[in-house]
Amino acid sequence: MAPVQSVSAAPVPKFLPTENEAKVLQSIFVRDEDERPKVAYNEFSKEIPIISLAGMEGEERGRVREEVRAACEEWGIFQVLHHGVPSDLVHRMSQLSRSFFALPSHEKLKFDMTGGKRGGFVVSSHLQGESVLDWREIFTYFSYPLRSRDYSRWPQNPDGWREVVEEYSQELMKLACKLLEIISESLGLEPQAVTKACLDMDQKVVINFYPKCPQPDMTLGLKRHTDPGTITLLLQDQVGGLQATKDGLNWITVEPVEGAFVVNLGDHMHYLSNGKYKNADHQAVVNADTSRLSIATFQNPAQEAIVYPLEGVVKAEDKCVMEEPITFAQMYSHKMNRDLELARQKKLAK
Ligand code: SIN
Ligand code: FE2
Repeated sequence: MAPVQSVSAAPVPKFLPTENEAKVLQSIFVRDEDERPKVAYNEFSKEIPIISLAGMEGEERGRVREEVRAACEEWGIFQVLHHGVPSDLVHRMSQLSRSFFALPSHEKLKFDMTGGKRGGFVVSSHLQGESVLDWREIFTYFSYPLRSRDYSRWPQNPDGWREVVEEYSQELMKLACKLLEIISESLGLEPQAVTKACLDMDQKVVINFYPKCPQPDMTLGLKRHTDPGTITLLLQDQVGGLQATKDGLNWITVEPVEGAFVVNLGDHMHYLSNGKYKNADHQAVVNADTSRLSIATFQNPAQEAIVYPLEGVVKAEDKCVMEEPITFAQMYSHKMNRDLELARQKKLAK
């Protein structure tokens, strides 16, 4: 095993090193022992429920509602099949995303997101001030509300980006609304309860490319986190790498299921349900054998939407998980500040 150097504030590289460039992990990617992967990327678990949405608008609705309720209470993650998103569209979206990451550097750097640009290409997460970086490259764009689309930040190369991405965004918004309706019902509420609480729903897409990694045991593709928004629809390829935990100690690798979307509940949904539903605690690990692609579609409430348990969810005897209502923008900024403060304290404690 290569020597581990101490974490320094090295500049964020513009690209991850290729196989030929680095046989040893640079120190800026090396995680503390307690954060490193505990389970292999391809040691798949079948614990996360797989729910078929077939017939959910008809006689299967009761079954789907019950399966969704159980999965949200236990994990805050489930996979869905027969979800209605055309498989050829999913295929085109994956192909296009892979082609983007395979472009020459100068093409990708046309969308360089460093320096405060909204949307585009960047190595690792775009959170400022992190001392250890994730082993991933991302391309991100905003798709809803329509006024958030900045076409100057959408690539023309590879060909067909705009058409495919627009269709994909629309199909995923439809699926998200269907899921939020059944999630509302599973909480004993009217179908529109969650979407109403989101106001004008935002959709943001992050395409994650995790190249082969020389020392995958010492790093993470994406560090442990919960998603801040309402729900996330994640499309992953067949490689494997998404991991979930209930306690931060025991981890499972979510089995990739051909044609499925992984649904993660975020912090917003957790608060709306007064903590009845979990916000999925997850991370992504990488490997030395093959690169991996995942596409995360984040369905978030509007910035000014109020985050507070929904009326009808809190029973008289329940304690409320929030002291007072806050906006989603406030919730998000508290979360970011908390994460950075924890990272800072960890660094100081070394
Ligand atoms: C994510 O959490 O946004 C992505 C996880 C993955 O790539 O599996
Ligand atoms: Fe996530």
